[in-house]
Amino acid sequence: MAGLIPKSFIQDLIERADVVEIVDSRVPLKKAGKNYQACCPFHNEKSPSFTVAPDKQFYHCFGCGEHGNAIDFLMKYDGLEFPEAVEELAHMLGLEVPRETTANPAEDARKRAQQASDYEQMERAAKFFAHQLRHHSNSPQVIEYLKGRGIQGETVKQFQIGYAPDGWDGLLQALGSDQRSRQQLLDLKLINRNEQGRHYDFFRDRLMFPIRDRRGRVVGFGGRILQGDGPKYLNSPETRIFHKGRELYGFYEARQAHRELSQVVIVEGYMDVVALAQAGIDFAVASLGTATTADQLQMLFRATRKVICCYDGDRAGREAAWRALENALPLLQDGIEMNFLFLPDGEDPDSLVRREGAQPFLHRLNQAQSFIDYFFSHLTETIDVQTDAGKSLLLKQTKPLLERVASEFYRNILIERLARLLRYEVSQLRASITNVTAQQPHTPQLKMTPMRRAIALLLQQPEIGKEVPLHPELAGLKLPGVKLLLRLHEQIHQGAMSTAQLLELWRGEREEQALRQLARWEHHLNSENMAQEFYAIFAYFIDLFVEQRANELLAKEQQAPLSRAERQEYLTLLQYLKDSESR
Ligand code: GTP
Ligand code: MN
Repeated sequence: MAGLIPKSFIQDLIERADVVEIVDSRVPLKKAGKNYQACCPFHNEKSPSFTVAPDKQFYHCFGCGEHGNAIDFLMKYDGLEFPEAVEELAHMLGLEVPRETTANPAEDARKRAQQASDYEQMERAAKFFAHQLRHHSNSPQVIEYLKGRGIQGETVKQFQIGYAPDGWDGLLQALGSDQRSRQQLLDLKLINRNEQGRHYDFFRDRLMFPIRDRRGRVVGFGGRILQGDGPKYLNSPETRIFHKGRELYGFYEARQAHRELSQVVIVEGYMDVVALAQAGIDFAVASLGTATTADQLQMLFRATRKVICCYDGDRAGREAAWRALENALPLLQDGIEMNFLFLPDGEDPDSLVRREGAQPFLHRLNQAQSFIDYFFSHLTETIDVQTDAGKSLLLKQTKPLLERVASEFYRNILIERLARLLRYEVSQLRASITNVTAQQPHTPQLKMTPMRRAIALLLQQPEIGKEVPLHPELAGLKLPGVKLLLRLHEQIHQGAMSTAQLLELWRGEREEQALRQLARWEHHLNSENMAQEFYAIFAYFIDLFVEQRANELLAKEQQAPLSRAERQEYLTLLQYLKDSESR
């Protein structure tokens, strides 16, 4: 993939960015003492426990534990991957992200250029289809079809709906003038090649829906048949830029319509997304002809607190809904709502909203079943809970599902509901289930040792470390964590001057989690006392080291006489210890 982003650039970004400004651009902050506060955007709360510290360039929620620097915030809040968050932050600061050349810089640059060119080619294809919709000789019929389905010109434009001409080579002629571009069109699955080696368009005589990724780039197409035989929809196959399980049709458009999405509706079809948007319900997305995947749900839960799954009431719709629920269980955090709406037989959101209008449909959305209700109504559909056999079967089917529920809150509600259904004692049931969930890994609380205190102090107020000269010889100290401490100390001397910058240097390292925990450790010290405490601990380490070294030399002398230099060292060490005692 693209080359690595140089660490120095990331440090530079963190240094230039102001986390207060970045958070404030998405979550308005209020000043509170030397920090800023807001109600946490990552969990549901009534009084603010989300704090942003300008000096540390770090945010932390005392309620849910979310924390990090400007990059973490963009990753979490905007739902971006690390490199995307870096791009976004650089963009906000008006900087270009440089890329480090890797083992194979030529190959790397080639891939980058290819990717950029792929997106351009897809955009050109979308424009080509959109143009054909208005100018092809079949245009009147296509527009008639759209009119017949109640789709207005404005909506066509907004979703850049197009028409793939009915010949065999419309797109090929337009975009595949040379061997290279033909190969690219093949790779992007916009054209096919037959056994005789002849090329032809993949989409022919179809209504075209461009599928955009969350950054708005066209990555694939869905094409609806207009007449004749063949599958109703033809979707772009997977390509090097298109992964169906990771994209949602309409997500980009919904985010364009709303800075913050208070809710998102998942529907089954492209036409449903488009018709709903036209009716003003401009927060619908569709998975691409498959069950909603964990990746897609994760993308939604990062963008909104309320997801309504809206499916046909038929068997396929119910199966898709249950799959979505199963995928959601490990992702449903406290404060996230997931509801289910099943439509009457023979209806889909498109037909309903056209027949009834937006208000009744919104009403249906508000009446949607909570995932908890749906969970039990689905499971008890085929199980008779009046019988012992039914009870034991229900318990057997529910248990593994409950164990996957991420939210403590939801798990408890589910257990209570299950207990009522089975006429069990809640406590008894909970005991049998928490047995398993208790084994789930959670971050252990770190016991405070002098080493951890020193590291925490350095992390939280790096300028303390600047005051103390580097002591690389301390690497010989036999104390766990000393190398980490010295490395941090060195990083501070090299210019990492905030918590945010320091932590950024450890992203992805084995020590990252421990360091993040120490950065949040509550020590109730003011900054002067923090410095004092750090100096004291550091001096203690030096004493320890001197003592350790003196003992080593002493032990050595028992075996064989010391050299002159060693003798001299031993005396210096003793003198140091004597002075240190009187200090
Ligand atoms: P209309 O019939 O135009 O209203 O389409 P729709 O959007 O209501 O689609 P439908 O409910 O029939 O199907 C839902 C989704 O499943 C579509 O948007 C496609 O993503 C997918 N799909 C439907 N039919 C096919 C098909 O024949 N092949 C493939 N690959 N996918 C399909
Ligand atoms: Mn439909």
